Amino acid sequence: MRAYFDNAATTRLDPEVLEAMLPLMTEEFGNPSSIHSHGRKVRTAIERARKTVATLLNTSPAEIFFTSGGTEADNTAIRSSIETYGLTHAITSPLEHHAVLHTLEHLHKQGAVKLNLVEVDEAGRINLLHLEELLRAHPNTLVSLMHGNNEIGNLLDLETVGRLCQEHKAVFHSDTVQTMGHYRHDLQQLPVDFIVGAAHKFHGPKGVGFLYVNAHTKSGRGPIHPFIHGGSQERNMRGGTENVYGIVGLAKALEIAYAEMESHRQYIESLKSRMIGQLRERLDGVSFNGLSANLSESLYTVLNVGLPSSEMSDMLLFNLDIAGISASGGSACTSGSNLGSHVLSALPHNDAERGAIRFSFSKYNTVEEVDYAVDTLVELFKREQAAVK
Ligand SMILES: Cc1ncc(COP(=O)(O)O)c(C=O)c1O
Repeated sequence: MRAYFDNAATTRLDPEVLEAMLPLMTEEFGNPSSIHSHGRKVRTAIERARKTVATLLNTSPAEIFFTSGGTEADNTAIRSSIETYGLTHAITSPLEHHAVLHTLEHLHKQGAVKLNLVEVDEAGRINLLHLEELLRAHPNTLVSLMHGNNEIGNLLDLETVGRLCQEHKAVFHSDTVQTMGHYRHDLQQLPVDFIVGAAHKFHGPKGVGFLYVNAHTKSGRGPIHPFIHGGSQERNMRGGTENVYGIVGLAKALEIAYAEMESHRQYIESLKSRMIGQLRERLDGVSFNGLSANLSESLYTVLNVGLPSSEMSDMLLFNLDIAGISASGGSACTSGSNLGSHVLSALPHNDAERGAIRFSFSKYNTVEEVDYAVDTLVELFKREQAAVK
């Protein structure tokens, strides 16, 4: 059996999405900036895709900008808001994806902003009192805190953090890459200035994503400058000929995700619960990192398993792979390797860093795959334990 449990890294393309993309790769090949009919046809496909995304997120198409993925969308929100608004401080957490953390660290090193990290507890919960303290001490601030953590699955209450940011007139960006297409985002209600999406995390194509920019930004500061300068594509926000088939695929993937969200959620959550239950029963001393075993406070797609002994995990991922199971030890970008995780090592009093395996699920996983993964993990673990003795 080959079982894919690395859906937080990327997901399989839905065949219906491919079908929607194919015409744009073949007969509909015009440049959307061209004014002749070949171009106009493709321009219409892009604008239709924008409308679909905007409608699903309950916002206006004018607030959706297509990008090359989650990383570019995060970079645009962070770099352009700091530059456009002259923000002097940024607050983030040590658990963010490197798309956010490295961007802010770079800006901090350049002297563009002062950077503050909000405290987290052993389970990776954001200390909201500390966040409030930081907000009070530092006006003119960008807050960047992710909605769903790609490694430990922790969910953040965007409503609460957004209100706090509004109270302190801070700009609020949330990396929603792991929740987009898996949770509903109602942008009429949500107090955020920027959120992002990456199509390949919800059965769309790789290399395409989007940025939501609140038209007036909810913090009242007006539109941001472009991050990529060039042509007038994306209403002057992002130069460069559009990834047309990617954009059409993204919209189709999001449409499917929204249409089937509740049933898929229920199904995927049942797979995750099954794995938690079986591992608790069969693997003495197993733990779960972050809040990932807490179904109401974590992504239903992510389970971060803490092994009872940290000495033997180096070979485990490798042996799981040989047995046909693709899982991950680190973050999405170091998936398949176990190089150590900046997220796990940022959790206070947590020594699970070397003994962690992340299983991440999708609608394409089956009960048989979960049972096989548990059987294999238990067997490999026992074998390695016997070898160590
Ligand atoms: C939370 C989070 N943010 C950002 C990204 C980057 O997205 P992309 O690979 O589309 O650039 C990822 C993907 O690994 C992610 O999980």
